[in-house]
Amino acid sequence: MKRISILGLGYIGLPTAILAAQAGYEVCGYDIDQEKIKQINKGNPVIFEPEISDRLWKALQGGLFKVSHELQYADCFVITVPTPFKEGNRADLSYVYQAADAIAKRLMPGNLVIIESTIPVGTTEQVAQFLEKNSDLKLGKDFFVAHAPERVLPGRIFKELIENDRVIGGICQQSCKLTQLFYSKFVKGVVHVTDDKSAEMIKLTENASRDVQIALANQIASMCKVANLDPYHVIELANKHPRVKLLSPTCGVGGHCIAVDPWFLIETFPEQTQLFQVARAINDKKPLTVIKQVLDKAAELKSRNISRPKIFVMGLAFKPDVDDIRQSPALQIATELHKHADALELNVYDHNIPLHVLQKYPFQIVSDVWHGIAWADVILVLVKHKEFALMHQDVFCGKVVIDTCGLLYEMQSRQTSAILEGAVKVDTAFWKTGAMKDLA
Ligand SMILES: NC(=O)c1ccc[n+]([C@@H]2O[C@H](COP(=O)([O-])OP(=O)(O)OC[C@H]3O[C@@H](n4cnc5c(N)ncnc54)[C@H](O)[C@@H]3O)[C@@H](O)[C@H]2O)c1
Repeated sequence: MKRISILGLGYIGLPTAILAAQAGYEVCGYDIDQEKIKQINKGNPVIFEPEISDRLWKALQGGLFKVSHELQYADCFVITVPTPFKEGNRADLSYVYQAADAIAKRLMPGNLVIIESTIPVGTTEQVAQFLEKNSDLKLGKDFFVAHAPERVLPGRIFKELIENDRVIGGICQQSCKLTQLFYSKFVKGVVHVTDDKSAEMIKLTENASRDVQIALANQIASMCKVANLDPYHVIELANKHPRVKLLSPTCGVGGHCIAVDPWFLIETFPEQTQLFQVARAINDKKPLTVIKQVLDKAAELKSRNISRPKIFVMGLAFKPDVDDIRQSPALQIATELHKHADALELNVYDHNIPLHVLQKYPFQIVSDVWHGIAWADVILVLVKHKEFALMHQDVFCGKVVIDTCGLLYEMQSRQTSAILEGAVKVDTAFWKTGAMKDLA
């Protein structure tokens, strides 16, 4: 296996293509987005990810990596195209079949096709049959197909592409063998081999499990709000139990994986996924709860003679420390609050998202976080970017803070332990801040 064609040069495809070239394969990246191809050829990776510019530049210079808007013949084709959902929360597999169609026209004896995109159970087999039908080749004899789902965390993609364990599922033994061989050149984690349907199910259950765990954390937060307790304190101490590992509440679940993939299971197994359906409903409702909380707070301040309370939103990305706003609940909250200009003034800040992206939205952008905090009556913390957690809690003194992600709790815990360095560790939940905390 020498020549590799990678279809779809986004967050997954481009880093994978670069790593494969650095491992010694002759790699040609292919994308239907011609502007992306142009930019990548110039050394601009288009996405924000540590190490990527440097690695892309080296790969282009090294001579083993090129990109094209025409799919090249290869020994192995890797599909890394999007799999969003469409109306009715059903998987949109049109990109996968479009990619498979392009491959079928170039399929040669001995070829391997790997689907890395996240797909519903049974899709690998269906795509394999599609390839057989649209080529003159026999599946499992002339060409081979496997699913190799991706589990990387944006912000650590290169490290995780190399170090994570992988699960690969082939439609036959030879598909597994060839796929294992492909990854063995650049994956240091263990490559676990299984069948195609198990691999699909494993990837989807991983993300559905995260969704359920976040829903659980969000339910704990709702109960704590009624009981006037700090959910971050409750969860931190519950996690001292050796077999409990609760996640943290958030302002909702976004991105293109955790908020999407459970639907692929719900679609295929409607009778067996009640828990996933409830988790989706809880997590989808969370941004609406936060919006209501802000509007209620604005109404309360208005009754205290602040006619249009100033709300400062900290964080818009779908999770901490990324530039990605795809299906971001924070973006949903800010966009909705912006519509209530009669009730409040809104300023928004997120240092991770490029200005030209933020400027597409109607709300007012602030480029100086300190200015935004000083301006505001209410600070609405939606994403706990690491830079926010480095601030001192005193910056919020005298402000109402609606904290949807535990920023205040982390600040207090860290600053309290710094103050108490060397002393007996005490319970930090009661360490007072000047801020009037209002947990979501
Ligand atoms: N981004 C992640 O963190 C992550 C993690 C695990 C799994 N995944 C899965 O990996 C897959 C890819 O995700 P992504 O985040 O890289 O998507 P992305 O949107 O960043 O990139 C996909 C690329 O595919 C291109 N494309 C679309 N149709 C094509 C076609 N027919 N032929 C060639 N190129 C085509 C698009 O132009 C785009 O550049 C999805 O199934 C996703 O669920 C993503």
